[in-house]
Amino acid sequence: MTLAKTRAVCLVGVDGFVVDVEAAITSGVPGLHLVGLPDTALSESRDRVRAAIFNSDEDYPNRHVTVSLFPASRPKAGSTFDLAIATALMAAAGAVPAQSCTGLVFIGELGLDGRIRPIPGVLPAVLTAANAGCRTIVVPRANAAEAELVPGVEIVSAGTLRALLCLLRDEPPPPEEEEEPLPRPSETLPLRAPDRRTGLDLADVRGQAEARRALEISAAGGHHLFFSGPPGCGKTMLAERLPTLLPPLDREAALEVTAVHSIAGTLPPGQPLIVRPPFHAPHHTATRAAMVGGGSGRSLQPGAVSLAHRGILFLDEAPEFMNGTLDALRQPLEEGEVHIARAEGTATFPARFTLVLAANPCPCAAAKQIDCSCPPAVRRKYLTRISGPLLDRVDLKLELTPASRAELRYDLELAESSTVVADRVLAARERTLKRLADTPWRANSEIPGPELRRRFVPSGDAMLTADDALQNGSLSARGLDRVLRVAWTLADLAGRDRPSADDIGGALALWSGWRP
Ligand SMILES: Nc1ncnc2c1ncn2[C@@H]1O[C@H](COP(=O)(O)OP(=O)(O)OP(=O)(O)O)[C@@H](O)[C@H]1O
Ligand SMILES: [Mg+2]
Ligand SMILES: [Zn+2]
Repeated sequence: MTLAKTRAVCLVGVDGFVVDVEAAITSGVPGLHLVGLPDTALSESRDRVRAAIFNSDEDYPNRHVTVSLFPASRPKAGSTFDLAIATALMAAAGAVPAQSCTGLVFIGELGLDGRIRPIPGVLPAVLTAANAGCRTIVVPRANAAEAELVPGVEIVSAGTLRALLCLLRDEPPPPEEEEEPLPRPSETLPLRAPDRRTGLDLADVRGQAEARRALEISAAGGHHLFFSGPPGCGKTMLAERLPTLLPPLDREAALEVTAVHSIAGTLPPGQPLIVRPPFHAPHHTATRAAMVGGGSGRSLQPGAVSLAHRGILFLDEAPEFMNGTLDALRQPLEEGEVHIARAEGTATFPARFTLVLAANPCPCAAAKQIDCSCPPAVRRKYLTRISGPLLDRVDLKLELTPASRAELRYDLELAESSTVVADRVLAARERTLKRLADTPWRANSEIPGPELRRRFVPSGDAMLTADDALQNGSLSARGLDRVLRVAWTLADLAGRDRPSADDIGGALALWSGWRP
């Protein structure tokens, strides 16, 4: 019996585990047998591997071959095991030296013609392998730049099975493989904020001073935000400009965001690392699965909450979203991640986002209240489609009125640009980070309630306003936590060491500002 071993990675959400792949050639009826709980896509690997080996001008071992996947008890999904299976098979057949692939991790899907096809999720797969102590990882050539974002591992890439086998045999590559070297990912992250991709700028918005201030507070502390107001008052316009106020992602966050978008297949072309906070705006027809993620095996997809991870989730026309879709947000809002139970195990996707909701006050969407034809009951009911528990989690609630004609005409030079506001946001965030230096949190909105009340207590005088609100019932315990977090952000924006009475009053006004 001849035996060879390689390794592969099975992804479950953004996590995964390393799979040992063992190929053994024994006497018996010729054929390839795959054992160790493969799913359908993985079972079809047999056919792809056979065709790819044949079309790479290699001899397919026409023998009784068993390929086992360990740990045998865990279900395995996907087509990314092809490369590990093909190399284990060729090594067991003696076509490549067995020791040349021992300990190597192979990630990639094979085309029938022998090409190694790019796959989604390379970054999290390589991270999984690196965290498991693997040192050398073979990936599809087209995914090399993404794989090389992971420090401390050697990435080998190949475009075809033939080229990979040459590498393992220490032979020169086949002539057609001498491709242009791929561009390397840029190591430097841009330091300053404005979002040059979109050309949007806060200065495009005239008037709306309160709404602009709310955007600034949201950007500085990561606070959730709700704009209500008549059609055309600028709700969508304002929300779309929130990303221009945010600082770029730090390296750790950039890798987290890139991992999610790698799995979803939404990485921008030619840009292996996402360095700007994402802005994700699902349509109101989005299903619950589209919102929080779903599917199984290879088609397990992160939802909108994860595509917005470390950025903005914007729900425009929020009351139009289907029943249940909005309430599905509550769990990720609390935990900063979503869990999806699947045969392969519970998949976890990160989902720490800033929620921005926009809504018209009623379904007829009249430009002026006087033109509204909706019966009062309909008006009242419309906004209550956004449930109380969800609204409780929104720190900043604003009711907008359209900018006046004078503002629209003359406010040009008064309107600050995104760059100016982003500088203040950055300064406030740096102040927050200094205070939170020895904690796992990076923004005021992330501090858990108990910690907030234990370690970040404003002075007694400042708390008097909040005490009054608690006493007269206009503020709940959960509301108090949210008000305190915003108060800290107001203090950080103003350069104060602790929230003042005004900061608490301001935060309270923004929290309770508006109710359906
Ligand atoms: N304050 C403003 N400054 C500059 N332009 C504005 C302002 N408010 C509205 N506009 C103009 O009106 C247009 C409509 O704004 P926007 O789509 O943001 O409104 P909305 O509140 O989202 O409306 P709807 O409820 O219909 O979605 C904008 O594209 C912009 O041209
Ligand atoms: Mg709109
Ligand atoms: Zn109406």
